[in-house]
Amino acid sequence: MSRIYALANQKGGVGKTTTAINVAACLAEGGARVLLVDFDPQANATTGLGHRPSRARSTYQLLHGATFEEITVATCVPNLDLAPAHPDLAAAAVELPGREDRERVLGRALAEVGEQYPYVIVDCPPSLGMLTLNALAAANRLIVPVQCEYYALEGLTQLLESVEIIRARVNPQLALTGLLLTMHDGRTRLAADVAREVRAHFGPKVFESVIPRSVRLAEAPSHGVPITSFDPDSAGAEAYYKLALEVVERG
Ligand SMILES: Nc1ncnc2c1ncn2[C@@H]1O[C@H](COP(=O)(O)OP(=O)(O)OP(=O)(O)O)[C@@H](O)[C@H]1O
Ligand SMILES: [Mg+2]
Repeated sequence: MSRIYALANQKGGVGKTTTAINVAACLAEGGARVLLVDFDPQANATTGLGHRPSRARSTYQLLHGATFEEITVATCVPNLDLAPAHPDLAAAAVELPGREDRERVLGRALAEVGEQYPYVIVDCPPSLGMLTLNALAAANRLIVPVQCEYYALEGLTQLLESVEIIRARVNPQLALTGLLLTMHDGRTRLAADVAREVRAHFGPKVFESVIPRSVRLAEAPSHGVPITSFDPDSAGAEAYYKLALEVVERG
């Protein structure tokens, strides 16, 4: 069965998209076929991989019967395909709640993809709304990026409670693969304190790999490529390679 990872945290700007793009690229470089699903109307994973959002090829179309085959595009990274997003996807918040299959739309579309991608990575928007709900209902694994900042733990309890509810009611397959410390600035005491606090709370659920704060990671999306293409020898690339190994090993 494909490993389907949701990258979720209702907190904004914590590194979900950066992690989705770069883990997807590292896994693809390793030789596995990877599908990155942009399920955020901001379409940051789409533009970050050098694609301009298009109405015709967008995950929004999945809500209206399109298949992944019809919307998926190749990327600059061999083995890495992208299901792009478009701002239209924001309409999901009004269109989905009235539907009987409201939390099943993404899962059903992914079921049709079958096993051709051993890894599927779903980038979620910063909310616990219908889109994230669909991702959590479709995924069998969850990665939660946590920014090494003062309010890092805020909202995590709510997120993990929601995951419990989804597991109980909709998707018993969903498992937490790990929490990921992101934007760690080694020069500050704050980052060390936050990292310690998160590890104290969540223990082995926290990935050993830590993503450093790095200008190169922030610059790569403006060039439309992952860090592994933009600056493969940078500390950011090294951190994401290490994380990808850990992701594979965690099963
Ligand atoms: N390790 C890092 N070092 C420096 N900048 C980073 C790092 N990770 C992400 N950024 C930058 O921080 C911003 C937020 O990151 P990103 O878009 O990945 O977060 P997000 O959780 O997907 O945000 P949103 O909730 O809006 O979808 C972006 O400008 C990104 O380039
Ligand atoms: Mg994002």
